[in-house]
Amino acid sequence: MGENKEQISPTHDSENPSSSNKSHDIIRRRCRRRILYCGCVAAIVGVVILVLALTVFKVREPIITMNSVNVQRFHPNKLNLTVIADVSFKNPNAVSFRYGNTTTTISYRGSTIGEVPGPPGVAPAHRTKRMNLTMDVLGDKLLESPNLLTDVGAGSLGVGSLTIIGGRVKILGFIKHHVDVILNCSYTFNISTQSIPDHSCHQHVKL
Ligand SMILES: *[C@@H]1O[C@H](CO)[C@@H](O)[C@H](O)[C@H]1NC(C)=O
Ligand SMILES: *[C@@H]1O[C@H](CO)[C@@H](O)[C@H](O)[C@H]1NC(C)=O
Ligand SMILES: *[C@@H]1O[C@H](CO)[C@@H](O)[C@H](O)[C@H]1NC(C)=O
Ligand SMILES: *[C@@H]1O[C@H](CO)[C@@H](O)[C@H](O)[C@H]1NC(C)=O
Ligand SMILES: *[C@@H]1O[C@H](CO)[C@@H](O)[C@H](O)[C@H]1NC(C)=O
Repeated sequence: MGENKEQISPTHDSENPSSSNKSHDIIRRRCRRRILYCGCVAAIVGVVILVLALTVFKVREPIITMNSVNVQRFHPNKLNLTVIADVSFKNPNAVSFRYGNTTTTISYRGSTIGEVPGPPGVAPAHRTKRMNLTMDVLGDKLLESPNLLTDVGAGSLGVGSLTIIGGRVKILGFIKHHVDVILNCSYTFNISTQSIPDHSCHQHVKL
């Protein structure tokens, strides 16, 4: 019986095209309903993820701590000096923080005396990354400053550094959020001990 029906239906369809259109319509409607259903589910999942991202996975700013600052090389007749900053970078987020090139600008009395490029990297979630940043201070530029002699006479130099870290956090693997961390530090360089006993940093974050 089934075979008979199959044999009859093609001829029937060719004589009566409206019935084939009807079955196509049903399939199309079913498809549309399925797409609509899938779309709704995707939208609901999207909303849930967004709520999670804004609450549980709330993007928090990274915490940067300057552990110590050391002057590696300082010759009285050569003003170039190398400063090594031991920096901890804590990522309090449940997501990893990927950052690009960093730039640290060193200034003395408002003029730039050195620039330190930093390599890009990743700060894993809930982890602290520790690194040594090497800063070269250009003595020639330092010498151009009219305040240098009085500062040297006083025994200390006030040096500032500005670090800009541009990064991106990725939430649940696909929601990306841009974060800019600006670290503004000031140091007091003691010439007689050739050390930096004092430093203070201010952090500013742009989400
Ligand atoms: C300081 O370093 C710069 C660049 O590394 C160099 O061009 C300059 O000659 C140095 N100056 C002194 C006094 O060593
Ligand atoms: C990062 O620094 C490297 C080397 O200085 C450079 O080739 C690259 O273009 C920089 N990338 C960005 C995103 O600035
Ligand atoms: C940074 O430098 C100090 C002293 O030179 C060293 O003990 C420490 O292991 C270094 N840290 C890193 C992360 O390289
Ligand atoms: C530099 O350090 C020495 C020893 O700690 C101290 O006696 C001196 O007062 C310091 N100089 C300045 C300008 O702070
Ligand atoms: C960095 O801090 C100093 C004072 O602590 C301030 O004068 C300077 O404007 C700050 N720089 C930036 C770029 O915020």
